[in-house]
Amino acid sequence: MNQAQTLLPMRTGEIRIHDEAGFAGMRKAGRLVAECLDMLEPEVQPGVETAHIDNLIREFVFDHGAQSATIGYRGYKHASCISLNHVICHGIPSERVFKEGDIANIDVTVIVDGWHGDHSRMFAAGEIKRKASRLIEATYEAMMAGIAVVKPGAHFGDIGEAISEIARKNRLSVVEDFCGHGLGQLFHDEPNVVHSARAGTGPVLAEGMFFTIEPMLNVGRKDGVILKDGWTAVTRDRQLSAQFEHSVGVTADGVEIFTTSPKGRHTPHKR
Ligand code: MF3
Ligand code: CO
Ligand code: CO
Repeated sequence: MNQAQTLLPMRTGEIRIHDEAGFAGMRKAGRLVAECLDMLEPEVQPGVETAHIDNLIREFVFDHGAQSATIGYRGYKHASCISLNHVICHGIPSERVFKEGDIANIDVTVIVDGWHGDHSRMFAAGEIKRKASRLIEATYEAMMAGIAVVKPGAHFGDIGEAISEIARKNRLSVVEDFCGHGLGQLFHDEPNVVHSARAGTGPVLAEGMFFTIEPMLNVGRKDGVILKDGWTAVTRDRQLSAQFEHSVGVTADGVEIFTTSPKGRHTPHKR
C-alpha cells in the first residue's frame, strides 16, 4: 500500500459531512472536468473514433496536472466512458467511429488535489433525430429537477421523485440498475442516490454532503444487460438511452453544482 492510499478515508457506512476546504477542492475538480467536456464539443464528429476522444480526454487531464479516477479503477483502462445510442453507461472507448445521427454520453472523472470531479453530458454526431434530441432534453431536465430539490432537510428520495416525474411526463423510463453516489476524496462513497426513489424516503440531506446525480432515461423499458466485456450496459430492448451527471454539494440553504460548464454547453444543439 502506498502513502496516498494510507491517507485516504475509508467508507464508514455513514454519509460524510465536508467543510469549506472540501467545497474549495470540489470546485477545482468540478471546474476542470467541466472544461474537459467543453473542450470535446468540436471534436465529436462523424468519422472520429471514440478511442481518439478518450485520448484527448487523457491528455487534457494529465496536461492540467490532474489524475484520471477511472484508469486503474477495478481494472478499467480508460479516461472516460463513451456510451453510444442504446448503451446505458460504461461504454468502453474503441475503434468504433461516430456516425451521423449518433448520440453519446461522455463521462469523465478527474482527481484534483485528492478531490473527485465526476461529470457527464450528451454529445451528438452531426444531425440527430427528433426522438433522440427529445430524449436528451428530457434527461437533462430530469437531472436539473433532481438537483433543484436538494437542500438541508430534504430526503434523498425527493431527488428520485423529481427525476421520475419528468420521465413520466415524457413517457420515458428511469434506469434502476445504476445510481448516483457520494463522492469527495473517495470516488464512490455513501450513499447510493436512487434516481427512481419516492419522496420522503431515504436519508435526510445535510449541509456539507457531496454526491452525484446522474439519471439514465430510456425511450423503451428500464431493463439493462451487461455485455461480455464486463462493463458495457445496454438496454435490453436496444432502444435509446441518455444520461447526464453533475457533482453537487449541499449548502446551508440549497445546492452548489461543482461541474457547471464554464462555456454554458449543457446539451447538444440547444445552448
Ligand atoms: N464515472 C462513472 C460514475 O459516474 C463511473 C465509471 S467507472 C469506470 O460513477 F470504471 F467504468 F470508468
Ligand atoms: Co458518478
Ligand atoms: Co461519472
